[in-house]
Amino acid sequence: MADSWATEVPSDETADFAVGSDLHLELSGTGGVRASLMSALRDAVRSGRLAPGTRLPSSRSLASDLDIARNTVADAYAELVAEGWLTARQGSGTRVAERAVACEIRREPPAPVRRPTVRPAPTPVYDLMPGSPDVSSFPRASWLTAARKALTNAPNDAFGYGTHVAGRPELRRALADYLARARGVRAAPERILICSGLSEGLRLVGEVLGATARMPGAAPGADLVAVESFGLDIHRDLLTGCGLRTVAVGFDEQGPRTEELAATRARAVLLTPAHQFPFGVALPPERRAAAVKWAVETGGVVLEDDYDGEFRYDGQRVGAVQGLDPEHVVYMGTASKSLSPALRLGWLVLPERLFAAVAELKRRPGFQTSGLDQLTLAEFIASGAYDRHVRGMRQRYQRRRDQLIAALAERAPHIKVGGIAAGLHAVLELPAGTEQSVINGAAWQGLALDGLRRYRLGAGTGGDAAPYDDVMGDALVVGYGTPPDHAYTGALDALCRALP
Ligand SMILES: Cc1ncc(COP(=O)(O)O)c(C=O)c1O
Repeated sequence: MADSWATEVPSDETADFAVGSDLHLELSGTGGVRASLMSALRDAVRSGRLAPGTRLPSSRSLASDLDIARNTVADAYAELVAEGWLTARQGSGTRVAERAVACEIRREPPAPVRRPTVRPAPTPVYDLMPGSPDVSSFPRASWLTAARKALTNAPNDAFGYGTHVAGRPELRRALADYLARARGVRAAPERILICSGLSEGLRLVGEVLGATARMPGAAPGADLVAVESFGLDIHRDLLTGCGLRTVAVGFDEQGPRTEELAATRARAVLLTPAHQFPFGVALPPERRAAAVKWAVETGGVVLEDDYDGEFRYDGQRVGAVQGLDPEHVVYMGTASKSLSPALRLGWLVLPERLFAAVAELKRRPGFQTSGLDQLTLAEFIASGAYDRHVRGMRQRYQRRRDQLIAALAERAPHIKVGGIAAGLHAVLELPAGTEQSVINGAAWQGLALDGLRRYRLGAGTGGDAAPYDDVMGDALVVGYGTPPDHAYTGALDALCRALP
């Protein structure tokens, strides 16, 4: 007998089949229809495909979908109820019994007891890892309002595969206005390309740079990208995955020494100018100017990662480097910190010479970004909800940062804290040699913490030594944006207890 899809009816026997959900059953064809239906249902329960409590389709709907007699289904259900696989209650329909799976699991041989030599740390109760905003503060209500309006007004083509390779025009227009106003980016909508997070944008640009470097007659160093000595290893790996090589640019307490870029012989540089990740400093004006001057003189390009530039607390707004020279800077932004990383929405503002090649790569199957989410974000920005949300979160994160500073001043005054003017994380200097033990100790107290070492170029890979040891030795990178409000005080308390 063929595989069949039946419809699960949510309310009662007379409910419209079309509102139910599908149930896939394979009837084996041996031992009669009733027996094979029972066996298929048992298999579905046993394998966990039908979870305990799941409501089954009515006998009428299942019979109709499987093209068998209703009585056959009713008899099979009754027999499975008698066997304990299913339950049937007036008004509640036929459901998978709560203990059906447990009975089956008990038949499995008991798992051998493993005695670990090292006990694993308990699951963290508090999370101060960097990289995440407070996801409990996602503006659910105003996002839904924007989504409703965006979907109501969307043209029919928005629900199709989409012909807008570089992104929905509504979002590109909204971003052009917003980025010019809030981040000092010089962007015509035609130069904006929407991508699935900043990391996808970096990959697209990396692929174009890699392909260019492999062309006959490519300039020497065309495959070299200068990177900050401290930064996200996943971004460096993305670039090497595109056939590029990375090289460290000198680094000190003010961030990357961009005046030394020429010495790297690279043709591109990846920077986090508004808020160096993870150190948290802003690139000084003369170093911004030096980066652009280098790009102009060498025909190179600055890749500007503006991952959390919206969050600055000292009143001194730091705009985008891109505003200095849009033809030599690729600006990369994201909704991951300002709204939610789950949206997977990011944007590139590209020089004219790169736009077509990047858009061509984005055209490949598998690289599309949800058009409906783009429309919602466009509406969210255009209605002013994005500004309101960012301003509200800025105040909230600033309060948290102040709480962190106050707690350290009171309970660990010997710990120096840096990178506090912006963003969602701070750097806490530790006595030499204590970083890993502090992280391990915190884990035992249920607190997830991150250290500085893993962000060093070459860390853990035995790769290039980078000029950083004179900058800072051991440190924690504390993500004060991560916990929900109600857990923040507890997290700070656990942090202070974990510090040496
Ligand atoms: C330095 C830096 N850049 C960019 C991002 C955001 O990447 P995406 O937009 O792919 O989530 C992150 C996220 O953690 C980050 O730490």
